[in-house]
Order: sequence, then C-alpha cells, then structure tokens
Amino acid sequence: MKGKSLVSIDQCSKGDILRILENAGKFEENPNRTLLEGKVAATLFFEPSTRTRLSFETAVNRLGGRVIGFQDASTTSSSKGETLKDTILMVSNYADLIIMRHYLEGAARYASEVTDVPVINAGDGANQHPSQTLLDLYSIQKTQGQLTDLTITIVGDLKYGRTVHSLIVGMSHFNPTFHFIAPEELRMPDEQKNLCDKLGINYTEHTVFTEDIINQSDILYMTRVQRERFTDLEEYERVKNIYILKNDMLKGSRDNLRILHPLPRVNEIAYDVDDNPKAYFIQQAHNGLFTRQAIICEVLGITELI
Ligand code: CP
Repeated sequence: MKGKSLVSIDQCSKGDILRILENAGKFEENPNRTLLEGKVAATLFFEPSTRTRLSFETAVNRLGGRVIGFQDASTTSSSKGETLKDTILMVSNYADLIIMRHYLEGAARYASEVTDVPVINAGDGANQHPSQTLLDLYSIQKTQGQLTDLTITIVGDLKYGRTVHSLIVGMSHFNPTFHFIAPEELRMPDEQKNLCDKLGINYTEHTVFTEDIINQSDILYMTRVQRERFTDLEEYERVKNIYILKNDMLKGSRDNLRILHPLPRVNEIAYDVDDNPKAYFIQQAHNGLFTRQAIICEVLGITELI
C-alpha cells in the first residue's frame, strides 16, 4: 500500500494493517514530529464531518505539514457545475495529498484514478470508511490486547453504515465471530455476508437487542441510524430509535467488553453509559489522530518515523 491511495480497506493486507497499527502506537507515544515539513494536504469535505476532518487536519499539523481545503462544497466552484474530475485536477496542482469525503459511493476511487496525488477516502456514501476501520482496529487491539478470536456485536444501521462495511473486511483477517443486530429494513447487505461465508467467518443475525448477546461480546459496536441515507423518511421515523443501549443492560457483560461507536451518536447510547468504564467511544475518536498520522505516512511512503 505504500505510496498509493487508500480508497478501500480491501487494499490493506493483514501485514499492512498490523504495520499501520504499530506505527499508530508510535505516534501515540509522540504525535509531534516533523515528517511532513514542506508538504501540503488538501481536505475536501463534500459531506459534514467533525472527527474525521479535524483529526486528519490535526494529524497533518502535528507532523509539521500544512492544510488547505473546504468543509462546505457550496463555497467552491463545484456549486457552479465544476466536475469532480476538474476539482481533483485543480487540487492536485496545489497539494501533495488529498483527503476526501463525498456523498457518492465510488467517488474516492474515481478521484484516485484521475490524479497521481495519493487520495485517502474519508468516507464515500454508504460504501467505505477505511481510516475509521483502522482506528477501530487500533482501539480493539489496544483494549483487548489482541485482534484475533474476538466476538464483535454490531448494532444499528448495518445497511447504510460505511464504517460497518469496512469493519467486516478489516476484521476478516482475525477470525472474528459476529453478531449483527438490525431491523429488517437495515440488515447487513449480502456483499458483507457473502464475504463472511467465503472466509468461513461465523455470524448470526438478530432483530432484537438482548442482554444475552451483549454478555457474549468482547466488543459492542453501536451505530447511528443515518437519516441522510434514507429516501423514505417515514421508514427512518419507524426505525430511528429502535435500539438504545442503557447502562443497566451492561451489568452481566464481560469485564473486557468495550463499547465503540464511530460517532456521532444521536439516541443509540444513553448518557448514563458514559461513566461506565466499558464506554470507549471518546477514546476511540482520540485514537483516530494517531491512526491517521500512521495512514498519512503510509500513503506518502514515509517509513522512517523520526
Ligand atoms: N466517525 C466519523 O466519520 O465521524 P465524522 O462524521 O464526525 O467525521
């Protein structure tokens, strides 16, 4: 993967993943290094973001680079009809690295095909969010001491959840057991289930969120029902509050259980969970800084992390 774009977690071998996580650990020890001196990164966000954009920009700043870009595409010439191709070609004139979030699935791959500048996919529609997966894996390894043989329960919007789709692929190297909890309308797509079948990964689908499943889990990965992906808002209203994790549901859970969420949350984790030591979603987002520093160095081919 060195010196290339990161558009999908499928590109990462098990070795790539383990190297990036090891390097993320080094950045956690010392995030302030001058590895990007003289380099410019462009953050192009065609969809809203808090964590992904700010942690990428912090990552570049702490590595001594500079950031250009936009967080609101309506202020750019794309609002005048400029194509994505021309936007990417223009930004390639100015930047050494492009970090892009786009509402269209496949937009990051397309961008990577029209430029020689490395592109990092910061989320493309309901498709992929590979940097989120790498920070999720870093968080899982850090809290569990390992990535292998874990039981991971994923709850909520499994149909549109790009973080979920990437997580299945990323964890597939490490012999997981999955529980997928979703309403009928938001079940895990066949693509991800077929991958599990092909690789012999155990998974069980549920529509009811029970303490029994929580008690079997090492990781409980909660997700938001994503209003912005629904074409039928009545359907969204029907399912939006279907699963809410409350603190008293955790009383029989394993000591090592950690609760992750890519965030933002809406209602799916009650605030009484926040003080439970098993709640890890705020630290998880913090880990995004170190993981994204490692990803930036990986795609730019920087191997000496001095
Ligand atoms: N997890 C995540 O992608 O968060 P943001 O939408 O705030 O970037």
